[in-house]
Amino acid sequence: MTAAGMTYDRSAHDAVELIRLKRDHGRLSQDQIQWIIAAYTDGFVGDEQMSALAMAILLNGMTRQEIGHWTAAMIASGERMDFSSLRTPEGTRRLTADKHSTGGVGDKITLPLAPLVASFGVPVPQLSGRGLGHTGGTLDKLEAIAGWQADLSNEALLRQLDEVNAVICAAGPGLAPADKKLYALRDVTGTVEAIPLIASSIMSKKIAEGTDALVLDVKAGSGAFMKSRAEAEELARTMVALGTDAGVKTSALLTDMDTPLGLTAGNAIEIEESVEVLAGGGPGDVVELTVALAQEMLTAVGITGVDPAENLRNGRAMDSWRRMISAQSGDPDAALPQAVHSHTIHAGVSGTVTRMDAMAVGLAAWRLGAGRARKQDSVQAGAGVRMHAKPGDRITEGQPLFTLLTDDEHRIARAQQSLERAVDVDVESGPHETPDLVFGRISAADLTD
Ligand code: URA
Repeated sequence: MTAAGMTYDRSAHDAVELIRLKRDHGRLSQDQIQWIIAAYTDGFVGDEQMSALAMAILLNGMTRQEIGHWTAAMIASGERMDFSSLRTPEGTRRLTADKHSTGGVGDKITLPLAPLVASFGVPVPQLSGRGLGHTGGTLDKLEAIAGWQADLSNEALLRQLDEVNAVICAAGPGLAPADKKLYALRDVTGTVEAIPLIASSIMSKKIAEGTDALVLDVKAGSGAFMKSRAEAEELARTMVALGTDAGVKTSALLTDMDTPLGLTAGNAIEIEESVEVLAGGGPGDVVELTVALAQEMLTAVGITGVDPAENLRNGRAMDSWRRMISAQSGDPDAALPQAVHSHTIHAGVSGTVTRMDAMAVGLAAWRLGAGRARKQDSVQAGAGVRMHAKPGDRITEGQPLFTLLTDDEHRIARAQQSLERAVDVDVESGPHETPDLVFGRISAADLTD
């Protein structure tokens, strides 16, 4: 039989045997993994059997080798992109660099990062998705810009990479279609949280995309997938191993997501903040992470001894942004959409902010209409939350803490509820240490087996 380009023999294995093997802490062979992915994609192995196997994997894990085979089988289910035709005028290959974030609240880093790295002459193919739940999607944010188009053919993507260097566009359905089916199943069977399955899901799409270098931003905290730093580190190690084994130069930064990034969580308001960063300003944490990831991406393709922050100050990254937006029919000068209603929440006491919960802010932005509950929902471009203070800031009673933005006034009360316990204030106002934004780095050299 042939499933999505994979040929397999239906009688070669038995799904129940493979489920039992994993249930009893056994190891799946390469052949067994290729078979189950092909047979599941084809519909020969049913959802109930794949659910049982996914749960056994969640409970008992997989070895580095098994995860590698699982990832390769998902890649084989679809197309692989090839950027090797990108060349300098002298004919030398131009290496591409990409970034993937595991997602967080106010995480707009891709927006300034892609044009910043591109401004050093590096092609950045940033194939992105739409948001689901409390973390926003990069495409949803960019669609707040008048005229901007997310969908590009492979030819248009390659042309834009060659001419503009930076592309942020929708990942086509052809990349790792087995993952699409499996991810939807995991979503409704309580098996999303399995680190081997998260790592293989993310990396199958990134490896199929064909980038030469990949930098991962793996987040830990209340607003992230991984709540603890230990889990984030395990996920990062697993993904760096997968990328390295597949010949992609891969490294990961471990970053804090207990606190939202920047001062905005939404769509148009995150574009506005990203443009501030590209103009040499913007919130310190957004600038810090953008520069740290840019440095990592540039080093990965052999560009060293440069300061990425310089291209934020001298306008080169902004030029690159404008060309990237215009190339996809967007108007970089158009006014951004504004929400119809706004509501300000004021501080009840004076003191120093010691905590601002990322999950609560993400939930508020989502309830205001910035995110979607179901894939088919649309999002409001102007909706979201503006933060007027962050941990470490001194505030005085009555000063604005949050501004809630939405087109539907009835959404405000529920959003307000989610922010009720989002902020801690130390009324003694002693000095407050904020945790490091980047708390670790994992590269191939840190892998042990
Ligand atoms: N993002 C993905 O693409 N896959 C997962 O499994 C989790 C997050």
